Amino acid sequence: MVKNDFYWGASTSAFQVEGGFGEGGKGVATTDVRKVPEGIADSKIASDHYHHMLEDIDLMEELGINLYRFSFNWTRVMGDGMEPNQEGIKFYNQLIDACIEKGITPFPTLYHFEMPQALVTEFGGWKSRKCIDRFVEYAEVCFQNFGDRVKLWGTINEQLIVSAASDLNGNHETNTEEKMKQMYQMSYHMSLAEKKVIQCFREIVKDGKIGPICSMQVVYPETPSPENILASKNAEDFLQNCFLDMSVNGEYPKSYSNYLNKKGWYPEMEPEDQRILLNYKPDIIGINYYSSTCIRAVKTDEDTSKLPPFYRNELFTLGVNPHLIKTKWMEFGIDPEGLYIGMRTIYEKYKLPMIVTENGLAYSDVLEDGKIHDDYRIDYLENHIAQCERFIEEGYPLLGYSPWSLLDLVSSHQGFKKRYGLIYVDRTDTDLKECSRIPKDSFYWYKKRIFNQ
Ligand code: BG6
Repeated sequence: MVKNDFYWGASTSAFQVEGGFGEGGKGVATTDVRKVPEGIADSKIASDHYHHMLEDIDLMEELGINLYRFSFNWTRVMGDGMEPNQEGIKFYNQLIDACIEKGITPFPTLYHFEMPQALVTEFGGWKSRKCIDRFVEYAEVCFQNFGDRVKLWGTINEQLIVSAASDLNGNHETNTEEKMKQMYQMSYHMSLAEKKVIQCFREIVKDGKIGPICSMQVVYPETPSPENILASKNAEDFLQNCFLDMSVNGEYPKSYSNYLNKKGWYPEMEPEDQRILLNYKPDIIGINYYSSTCIRAVKTDEDTSKLPPFYRNELFTLGVNPHLIKTKWMEFGIDPEGLYIGMRTIYEKYKLPMIVTENGLAYSDVLEDGKIHDDYRIDYLENHIAQCERFIEEGYPLLGYSPWSLLDLVSSHQGFKKRYGLIYVDRTDTDLKECSRIPKDSFYWYKKRIFNQ
């Protein structure tokens, strides 16, 4: 891989690093009001990137990356969702300019899990088509203000997760049946909104590239029995194809549509949606990958209600893969080859270039004499980079690799005990200290890896 041709990056998301709650005109987000269990950090301070932004960009320069994948905080750009917030726009202009000055390509995602709580309170958030308009307005503000310098964009991060997770999307419906119906409706609205955003992007950022950031699902059947193989195919349709088929081709997989129709959960659509859905294809696909998923058929009378809603289905359920090494925070196991397998599947289906936008190892790192010796993370990253190199050598289009995460950040739901960063942030769930930055061994290893390739 030649550095000039390849993006070597590092990734974060706004609500997980920024903090700056209530500062600079920021509105209140779903992630600001969600209930976090006692003793676990919330996102009000997070890694305090809002106050350390220039220092963090200096560290990126030292690391030698040429891409920074981050997200705009919807509530920093749009306050409570209706009007642009000039202070927030100024913050991101500073961030973008500082990156560009250091030769780092800014790669923002528009929607990474948080959204204005006011839109949820007012009309139920993504349950309503009104949310589509608010999202497109927000995207337009971003394209108008940053599109002259920012040419690489992500639309929605992990629609699978954000359409299902109540504390992110604000849907606290208690009736399970109704909630499932709403989840599919909300997801449809997100898909349509994404297409409208791409339509708007084509008008404003004519020389840019944009695409979804998917939570890549590398699905293995638990055994080669026909029912488990069918279950794994069903899982692929529900966990990945229903999002990417929509993003790229504007249609749902048959098994997904059939199932939703049978349940009475097929989303309401309007006739004019079709034209939008069938146009405005993305240019790239962002790949988030941590591990593969093992799937099996559901046993008779099996109760799957404890699983997250996207695994709660008569057509498949989670299995266990005995071939992978599992750790406390990587319960599905570690599977570098899965990255190669999954990207191959996605390329053969959609024929679009990809960028690895997230890949990393969670660990409860321990600071010893001012250092973090995270060999376990170096092994994980090296083994996954090797699979990217294999993919490229075989002629597939991979534009870059951007591990999760640049620095320690508040996990999507498990606070600061679970760390992914190349840079240690000196705080705990309950003690904020100074949030000082300490590069880990993996930081110095990645720097060399980028330099020597
Ligand atoms: C991805 C998200 O799902 O996984 C990130 O895009 C998240 O926001 C990452 O942090 C790791 O998950 P978790 O739950 O360990 O933070």
